[in-house]
Formats: sequence, structure tokens, C-alpha cells
Amino acid sequence: MRVIAIDGPAGSGKSTIGRALADRLGLTYLDTGAMYRAVAFAVLRDGVALDDDIAVGTIARGIDLKIGDGFVSVDGVDVTDEVRGPEVSAAVSAVAALPSVREVLRDRQRTWAAEMGGGVIEGRDIGSVVFPDAILKVYLTASAEVRAARRALQLGETDTESIAKAMAARDIADSTRADSPLVEPDGSVTVDSTGLGIDEVVDVLVELMESRS
Ligand code: DC
Repeated sequence: MRVIAIDGPAGSGKSTIGRALADRLGLTYLDTGAMYRAVAFAVLRDGVALDDDIAVGTIARGIDLKIGDGFVSVDGVDVTDEVRGPEVSAAVSAVAALPSVREVLRDRQRTWAAEMGGGVIEGRDIGSVVFPDAILKVYLTASAEVRAARRALQLGETDTESIAKAMAARDIADSTRADSPLVEPDGSVTVDSTGLGIDEVVDVLVELMESRS
């Protein structure tokens, strides 16, 4: 099974680069952040407290979650837009910190990879915890300003400052939680995409893959 793991903070370009890399290499692509967002959506929908490890874990286990490329559904309802909205974005780090949720989603991610025979998988703990034996582990980063500008563009927002603040709060929460925090995984290659275009980053990663195959 050939897994390429891409981890990094919010707005570092993981989704864009991950998709483009998967296209180039003819692999499937999985956005694990969308899985955590889908659970956060279901928790808000059901009115459960964000820090209730047992109740939130039950929701994570019980929902019918479908993730396609650029598509998310929960219990048969298309929530692709809702999972990117401000309510879910504000709640997702709390939900992602819960060990019960992480255990369920790790299992779902490993099942997905086994069924697909591998793929490009992006998130926060992919190279460190979920697939420590990935053939290539990438830690993708970029300056805080560039990351906020990219996210603002993606969301069609003009208030870059408040986006930067929300992103910084999320990065701190994701990097300091006890269970599988965001780290540069052992054996990973760090790529700073601040001054690079999509194709330039993908070229670097394809070269790295070729040198390992
Ligand atoms: O990549 P994203 O912004 O869509 O991720 C949403 C949240 O999910 C983010 O706060 C971190 C969390 N996450 C995680 O904890 N582990 C992953 N493998 C992927 C995302």
C-alpha cells in the first residue's frame, strides 16, 4: 500500500497540493480535515457539548460519513458547504482534540487506505500517527500572512485579519492537544510553500517520490 502523508497547519496548501499531487501520480486523495469537520457538523446539529468525549465519540461512530473529492455527506445529507462555514470552523478543533473521535476517525482512515490501496492523505497526524510507514511524509508550511490570505481567497472573504486570528487560534489548539498533536513527523520532508506556486511544490514532491520508488 502506497501512502503519501501530507501534514501541516491551516492554509498551508495541503488540499490544493494534495489533490494536484494525487492527479499527477494517478492516486486517490483523502482530506481527513473534512472528516473532523463532518463530525463537528453532526455534534452541532445534535446540540451535544463539544467537550463531551463519550457523547461526541458515539456520534463519530454512528454517523454515515461519506467523503469524496470536494464532497462531504453526513447521514445522507450533502454538507459540503456547511463543513467549511464559520460555525463548524470554530467548533472543529475542540472536537478533534477528543481521543474518542480520533480513535474512530483513525480507523476509518486506515480502512479507506486499505480499500483504495493507498493514496495521498492529508491532515495533522497522518505521517506521525495514522500512517507512520508512509512512503513519503511531507510537512507543508507557509508564512502566517500567506496562509491567511489563501484561506480568505478560498472563502471569498475580505477580512483577512479576523481569518488570521481564527487560524492562529486553531493552529495553537491543534499543536498543543494531548492526543496526536500537529508535529513535523519523524522522517518527514518540510516544504515551505510561501514563495512557491502549486506546480512548483508538486514538482518537488513528484521528484521526491521518484527518488523513493
Ligand atoms: O485541514 P482542516 O482545516 O480542514 O482541518 C479541520 C480541523 O481538523 C483542524 O482544526 C485540525 C483537525 N484535524 C486533525 O486534528 N487531524 C487531522 N488528521 C485532520 C484535521
